[in-house]
Amino acid sequence: PAYHGCTLGALALTGYAPMTAPFDPMMRQMPKIPAPRAYLDGLDPTDPDTGRHYADMLEERILQEGPETVLAFIVEPIGGASTGCLMPPEGYMQRIREICDRYNVLLIHDEVISGGGRTGTFFAADNWGTVPDIAALSKGFGAGYMPLGAVIAQERIVEAVLGHGGFIHGFTYAGNPLACAAGLAVIEEIERQDMMANALDVGTQLGHRLRALMNRYPIIGDVRGMGMLQAFELVADRSTMAPLPKDLNAHDRLVEAAYDEGLIIYSRRTRGGYSGDHFIVAPPMITTTQQVEEIIEKLTRALDRFCEDAGL
Ligand SMILES: Cc1ncc(COP(=O)(O)O)c(C=O)c1O
Repeated sequence: PAYHGCTLGALALTGYAPMTAPFDPMMRQMPKIPAPRAYLDGLDPTDPDTGRHYADMLEERILQEGPETVLAFIVEPIGGASTGCLMPPEGYMQRIREICDRYNVLLIHDEVISGGGRTGTFFAADNWGTVPDIAALSKGFGAGYMPLGAVIAQERIVEAVLGHGGFIHGFTYAGNPLACAAGLAVIEEIERQDMMANALDVGTQLGHRLRALMNRYPIIGDVRGMGMLQAFELVADRSTMAPLPKDLNAHDRLVEAAYDEGLIIYSRRTRGGYSGDHFIVAPPMITTTQQVEEIIEKLTRALDRFCEDAGL
């Protein structure tokens, strides 16, 4: 599962049931494969066999559908709303690229959350050296303030579309000069301040500090992510990874407790959207080591209060 947006086309590709179910009668659901959640399946994400295991599900599905009917495969290189910073297991990204090439299927990277530099490279997929046919970019690309998004495609794809009369739809704000100028300024500042290096360096420390919280809170079942894109997941039992009771609404309550401390974290439900609680901690790319400590202090107070209120 992944989240790709709320138009009918994007929803048809999205795996987050509470968001897609109301629109089922209006759309044609697209075939999906399971996200590579090694941590829930008891597999080692650093083992190349794990990456192959999940990537081969793509090949099986393409064959099942009939390769000539499959136009594209879309993937978030690092998961966002649906999976909470899920990292691809070893070799997964590369093997998916190979499979798409083998069956002449376009590979689309949704870098709306993962792109823009917070993982240490401008595109998260650069961390695995894989190049898509098409990439979608937004959020960080406008520094999170300017409404700006982009679809970046290989020239042969752009030429093919132009050769067939071009993209006939228009949007009120497409090619907006102000937003584009802001996007260019953001990229210049990212480069000038070497923010991607800071995001990786300080973000890695953030990851270590979040992982250290697992000693204090048995309910933290997993910590994952890269650079300034980190997440943790709450569970009832770390040995089975059983989620907390869904009516506990941990995803809402911990976010509220964090707000009260002056900390913004982002939560969604992990298991198909109906249960499980993950929290993304994604501070700005300019965050300092001292600010990481401040984040951890506030999060600790919020977790203490949540555990006390929830009787955990
Ligand atoms: C990974 C991902 N893709 C696509 C989208 C949709 O982008 P937009 O809201 O700009 O349509 C979002 C979130 O909004 C997202 O998190």
